[in-house]
Amino acid sequence: MAEPRGGREQWASRRGFVLAAVGCAVGLGNVWRFPYTVAEHGGAAFVLVYLVLTAAVGVPLLLAELALGRRGAAGPVVALGRLGGPRWQWLGWAFVAGVAAMLAYYGVIGGWTLRYVAAYFAGHAPTDPATFFSEAATGPGAAAALLAFLAMSAAIVARGVRGGIERLATCLLPLLAATIGGLACYAATLDGAAQAYTYLLRPDFDALRSLDTWSHAAGQTFFSLSLGMGAMLTFGSYLARSDGLARSSIGIAAADLMVALIAGLAVFPLLFALGGAGDVAENAIGALFIAIPSAFAGLGTAGEVLGLLFFAALAVGAWTSAVAMLEVVVAAVVEATGARRAPVTWALAAGIAVVGLAPALDRSVLAWMDRLAGELFAVAGGLVLALFVGWFMQDPAREIGGPGSVLPRVWVGAIRVVVPAVLAVLLWSALGSTWAAATAGLPG
Ligand code: PHE
Repeated sequence: MAEPRGGREQWASRRGFVLAAVGCAVGLGNVWRFPYTVAEHGGAAFVLVYLVLTAAVGVPLLLAELALGRRGAAGPVVALGRLGGPRWQWLGWAFVAGVAAMLAYYGVIGGWTLRYVAAYFAGHAPTDPATFFSEAATGPGAAAALLAFLAMSAAIVARGVRGGIERLATCLLPLLAATIGGLACYAATLDGAAQAYTYLLRPDFDALRSLDTWSHAAGQTFFSLSLGMGAMLTFGSYLARSDGLARSSIGIAAADLMVALIAGLAVFPLLFALGGAGDVAENAIGALFIAIPSAFAGLGTAGEVLGLLFFAALAVGAWTSAVAMLEVVVAAVVEATGARRAPVTWALAAGIAVVGLAPALDRSVLAWMDRLAGELFAVAGGLVLALFVGWFMQDPAREIGGPGSVLPRVWVGAIRVVVPAVLAVLLWSALGSTWAAATAGLPG
């Protein structure tokens, strides 16, 4: 790749960048959040809407964020300030604050995954998963696990872009993909497999007409692709050249989608073998953490190995994503203050750990934070970023190959009109349903 601009660190290679961005995208969103949102919102119809939104809204917006980061050569605060003027910087800080809050609860769930890995590893597979979950998921143990998880993330971010983030993704992502793929193959042999595939793949077309399905699917698309929060923007800022941005975006979105679908093919047969997806929707946040160990509990040693593999894969996904979130916050503060990366990283991780105490100690706080982040913050952030790139950034088409060819023109049209219009409608609907849930109370 070309030489660094202004001494800014760059990815070592385009492959390394794509892997790091896939690591940012693939995480709890694919394996934990995707199955339960699918179960809550109508199975295959939701999956279909999710596919459509990933292609029609996710990819153009991913491209926009990467292009914006690359052009601004900085994280959200400095990039927006540079390209839009100082007034835009506050918006950059809003992204940074949002991502920090998101990491606070994401880290709590990351901590749960560590608890499960440790239990399986030590040969103490949960025999009573519901009790194990309620003990692991709240209270001082959960707070300690959050600290451990954030420390692991800070250790990577402190090492920088190439030596930390890129290396972590390059080493661990292939393992994650192989594990999830292997589990899906195993799940195919279970009794519940046929029923699970029908549930995931045969849509009830009536559900397609509900705006609610669409707005939840948009939230999930954004959460899963790490869009609307300045994360992909920050990753794009370490790119030296703009060529290949479109191809990379499609590759990243396709990889993220594949992992979500394969995770669904792994998780749903297990759930159906146990008695159905209803439990998942009812106990949304904890579903996976209770159902998966229950499915493995009867299998003896094989179950212990499967449990270890499943939760290790989940922990890896969570780790590479948490690293990306922390990077957004660290990059912004380093760029604004000129301070050194390592101390900034540890100080910010400590601050985030303090905020994380609330969701670590109270699961209904966590449920609310997830709802606000996934459903509102990301979609609103995506809307603003699309408008910025479409209407305020000069000649956006240049970032993906100049105004002459067809693809850039289609993209600019999408980012100016189609994406904002779709997002405005869905945001409106999400505001309505969040308001309804707030007045009705949300179960943890
Ligand atoms: N996309 C990640 C996941 O699916 C979550 C994430 C959101 C990561 C925002 C970074 C920034 O788990």
